[in-house]
Amino acid sequence: MFQRHLRWITNLPRVKPFYAMKCNNTAAVLRMLSALGTGFDCASKAEMELALSLGVTPDRIIYAHTTKPLSHIRYAHTHRVDVMAFDSEDELLKISLCHAQAKLVIRIAVDDSESLIRFSLKFGARLASVGKLLQRAGELTLEVIGVSFHVGSGCTGGLAFKRAIADARHVFDIASLLGFQMRLLDIGGGFSGIGDFQEKFEEFSEVINESLDEFFPPDSGVEIIAEPGRYYVESAFTLAANVIAKRVVVNDVDERDDGEDNISDRVMMYYINDGVYGSLSCITFDPAHSNLEPYLHRAVESSEPRYKSVIWGPTCDSIDRVTENYWIPELHVGDWLLIDNMGAYSVSVSTDFNSFERADIYPVVSAKTWNALNLSHIYGIIQ
Ligand SMILES: Cc1ncc(COP(=O)(O)O)c(C=O)c1O
Repeated sequence: MFQRHLRWITNLPRVKPFYAMKCNNTAAVLRMLSALGTGFDCASKAEMELALSLGVTPDRIIYAHTTKPLSHIRYAHTHRVDVMAFDSEDELLKISLCHAQAKLVIRIAVDDSESLIRFSLKFGARLASVGKLLQRAGELTLEVIGVSFHVGSGCTGGLAFKRAIADARHVFDIASLLGFQMRLLDIGGGFSGIGDFQEKFEEFSEVINESLDEFFPPDSGVEIIAEPGRYYVESAFTLAANVIAKRVVVNDVDERDDGEDNISDRVMMYYINDGVYGSLSCITFDPAHSNLEPYLHRAVESSEPRYKSVIWGPTCDSIDRVTENYWIPELHVGDWLLIDNMGAYSVSVSTDFNSFERADIYPVVSAKTWNALNLSHIYGIIQ
């Protein structure tokens, strides 16, 4: 994560990251990012509570959800979390009731057609309705200070940012005409956390920097922030799953695994202690993770025979399948499988269905990073 942060500040020097903690709210992740000086994008009262409990100051939090329960807005008011998003008149009415001093960003719907997971169907004001909404905010004497958007998670083309930044400029101009002092642009998330993604972070950054310089040049005085989630955590987590059970099926009949059958007739069924209802729910909703490739936590000889295998999660449900038609060497109960890039929308989405425990998390930090960030201080460890 340290390296990824350095990559961020090198490539997007004008954009301050506010980590989207919905992506992975493990305390060690939040502590590390807090030490690196990022802000935090919170979506709920509990997320704000968690960030504040770790010592994050309210000015480093944006309450970025546009559809908020009244009680959560009240919590933000009490704890001085002032910057929050809206995209409808009803939200404005709620905010004027519970947090009239809030500093608002209007979230706009943008073209997210190039992203793996799209959001503009659910969130964001259409450009055609922005003028009316801003007028209503004025009537309610609310302060609108900026614009936010999200090009969709797992964005595959940097030009989506260019189009969205141009749209945001248009909204800034409308708001300024209506008398608002606009000073914050939030370019959302969408950046991949995997090294060899379709378009590289550096290529995205180039498009973003050029667009910012064109539409929001440094002398405009506009502060630029983003809400990256995956970018920071996707590659930081590796899942280790244990084989808890095994069945060998030959021609649809269960066999003992010492039979003399033809290898190609066999299907090995393995059951591991994590699955779709646990850390691997991303298989069902996240195209970035639809083809997982678990690998053995031991050296594998190239001469070892491969068997057609199905890997199942531990629960009673048959949708709880991790891979199918997967050709790997034979596994045994007790073996460990590893899956890389499991930090995004994994542990934060997991359940304990069937009362199987959620995965334990073991943070590992290099001595260099530990010392550079003075993490002993963050963890309250006296040396
Ligand atoms: C409002 C908002 N901001 C940021 C993010 C993080 O997106 P990503 O993980 O693609 O960077 C999300 C993801 O759901 C979101 O809804």
